[in-house]
Amino acid sequence: MQALAGQTLSVPPVWMIRQAGRYLFDYRELRSHYPSFLALCYTPEAAAEVTLQPIRRFGFDAAILFSDILVIPDALGQTVTFAKGEGPQLKALGGQEDIAALKPDRVLEHLQPVFETVERVRSALPPETTLLGFCGAPWTVATYMVEGKGSKDFANIRRFAYGDPDGFSRLIDILVEATTQYLLKQVEAGAECIQLFETWGGVLSENGFERWVIEPTKKIVANLKAVHPDLPVIGFPRGAGLHLIDFKQQTGVDAVGLDSGVPLKWVAEKLQPLGPVQGNLDPMYLITGGDEMIDETRRILDVLRDGPFIFNLGHGITPETSPENVGKLVDFIRNYR
Ligand code: CP3
Repeated sequence: MQALAGQTLSVPPVWMIRQAGRYLFDYRELRSHYPSFLALCYTPEAAAEVTLQPIRRFGFDAAILFSDILVIPDALGQTVTFAKGEGPQLKALGGQEDIAALKPDRVLEHLQPVFETVERVRSALPPETTLLGFCGAPWTVATYMVEGKGSKDFANIRRFAYGDPDGFSRLIDILVEATTQYLLKQVEAGAECIQLFETWGGVLSENGFERWVIEPTKKIVANLKAVHPDLPVIGFPRGAGLHLIDFKQQTGVDAVGLDSGVPLKWVAEKLQPLGPVQGNLDPMYLITGGDEMIDETRRILDVLRDGPFIFNLGHGITPETSPENVGKLVDFIRNYR
């Protein structure tokens, strides 16, 4: 919370994207007792336990709520399943009738278990550990809703957004509203900071980024801050490149998450003076381990620790990661001067 408020700390705080999950034995064990990934997400006692596992093991400075960005389409009535080894599957939205059939009115009721998870985690966490709530940003959630699954080229959604912007904006507007309501409830339940994941922001044209990433994010941030003026919001527009400056300045986010490709010298000169940054070790270094992992971590710390900074990965931990390397990384960050 201090780093998010703009303080430069001698030891930067550290947490990791996907810090809970399949690389941990305790997670795989617990997961095996649930019929589906979403069933686990909607069982507060279990989701709270999974959120806490990496905190107990590694002592991260922040816990991130265990859930998924795709609970929003699920709550809107577009059933989501996670087939083993294939990633998420949804019945792709075909057109305006499908958008009109979404059920924004039932979102909060459907996601009630998530709020209970947040309450449980907050009361179990040490007071010095920040609890992060999160949500997918509208564009990224819409990619799964329109493509029906993960995509390589995002052809369907780009054709929709560029060819029928007014029609597409109906979907984005629904997502802005649902996201706002959902995040406000997370905060009410005990989330102290919110991260917005814009995983697929980098596939858009310049105008597309402005209209479908910056504009909806700006609305959500304004809606949240209207109720909670001091709530810190982290935006993570993966692949945004040179858009990062506009993203920071126009959306009103407090901090910006960096993917592993962003040049750090540029960040230190141009972006970090505008506010805290978070990132950006390539998660593959957690698999290589060794001197390579430590050298790369030192490089990141050396460039970014003279300003407000939160250590993180540039993207999510992969299931092949060795927990030992995660422990070594955290130790190195805590002891490096
Ligand atoms: O520890 C944490 O970071 C919190 C939990 C979390 C998950 N997903 C758990 C999860 C968070 C923050 C997410 C965000 C998420 N989900 C994003 C944005 C961040 C990113 O990584 O880009 C996206 C794009 C998704 C959508 C999603 N969920 C996909 C594509 C998949 C399949 C991934 C795969 O490798 O199979 C998921 C499933 C998912 N979400 C798992 C976990 C732990 C694996 C499910 C399992 O245990 O079977």
